Amino acid sequence: MSSNLTLAERLQRPHLRDLVPYASARRSMSGGAIWLNANEAPYTPSAAANAPDNNRYPAFQSTLLNQAFADYAGVAAAQVLSGRGSDEAIELLIRAFCEPNRDSILICPPTYGMYAISAQTHGCATVQVPLQQRTEGNWQLDLAAIDNNLNGVKLVFVCSPSNPLGNSLDSADLRALLEHVGERALVVVDEAYIEFTASRDSRAMGVASWLQDYPQLVVLRTLSKAFGLAALRCGFVLAASSIIAVLQKVIAPYPLPQPTIDGAIAALQSAALEAMWQLRDETVRQRQRLLQALQQRSWVRQIYPSVTNFVLLQVDAAEALVKQLSDQGILIRNQSQQLGLANCVRISIGSADELDQLIARLPA
Ligand SMILES: Cc1ncc(COP(=O)(O)O)c(C=O)c1O
Repeated sequence: MSSNLTLAERLQRPHLRDLVPYASARRSMSGGAIWLNANEAPYTPSAAANAPDNNRYPAFQSTLLNQAFADYAGVAAAQVLSGRGSDEAIELLIRAFCEPNRDSILICPPTYGMYAISAQTHGCATVQVPLQQRTEGNWQLDLAAIDNNLNGVKLVFVCSPSNPLGNSLDSADLRALLEHVGERALVVVDEAYIEFTASRDSRAMGVASWLQDYPQLVVLRTLSKAFGLAALRCGFVLAASSIIAVLQKVIAPYPLPQPTIDGAIAALQSAALEAMWQLRDETVRQRQRLLQALQQRSWVRQIYPSVTNFVLLQVDAAEALVKQLSDQGILIRNQSQQLGLANCVRISIGSADELDQLIARLPA
């Protein structure tokens, strides 16, 4: 095998090496005044559905959007891929790098459920290396066990801050993980909740600034959490441009609808970013208020420390609590099926009013 291949080219599924991606009309030609190359309609006939250019396919990757997110995250636009939420990114990574029935992914439960589900739908095995409790409520990577279980693994998924635990992974451990894994696999750090941990210096948060040091690093980001835009379905992969190039071979020709692209660009302008940080600060205040209320309840056995927009707690009877609240119209999530989380529930930090109502209905 030629040594001048990039890491991404070496790790990608073999058949992708020679795959020429579908050349959509928008991707293969630009400019021109009269567009007759994509079988689009000349205009949108229904006034109700009309918006500028709704008759046109959107860009394969919006330069404006990717540049806006690159500026926000402190990376180069060539290191950004935008798609339908981080869930699509997870799936694309597995589709691009894992050969069904041969390669596997490694996860560290308890963790976000979609890594294993995406691997399963794709016919790939999931190696599980549980987090270990380092000090009370502080769950961290078991680096030695990960190291011993990398055989056949192409992607290591870690989630920091963690869903469902709510804490951050130790950054020295993340560095050690990247060093241990070396060029054997890609290390995917899912930072869906990173804004909740950060100062307002978005370029300093998380591990995106490590991309220059670690070609095996992939960072996942989303607009679904702190940005309050889950309905847009917009997420980002930040990685070496050679990894982005491989993902571009497997992503759909027009991944993001134009309204999503427009909404996401708007959300990354400075006034909108300021509003995002304000909601983040308010969420942290509300989280504190909820914690105070929970600390006074005798049926709460343990509250996991959270740097996110949710709290995880162990209670006397999770199922009964979830049912009791849902009978009153309040939905929280039972996490008891997760490894090591018997009788645990996860509560998202809603508005002050929503939390007032929750607190009023919590058992005494
Ligand atoms: C850790 C984590 N990663 C990814 C996602 C998916 O986010 P998106 O809405 O960007 O697909 C979630 C959603 O809950 C999540 O908790």
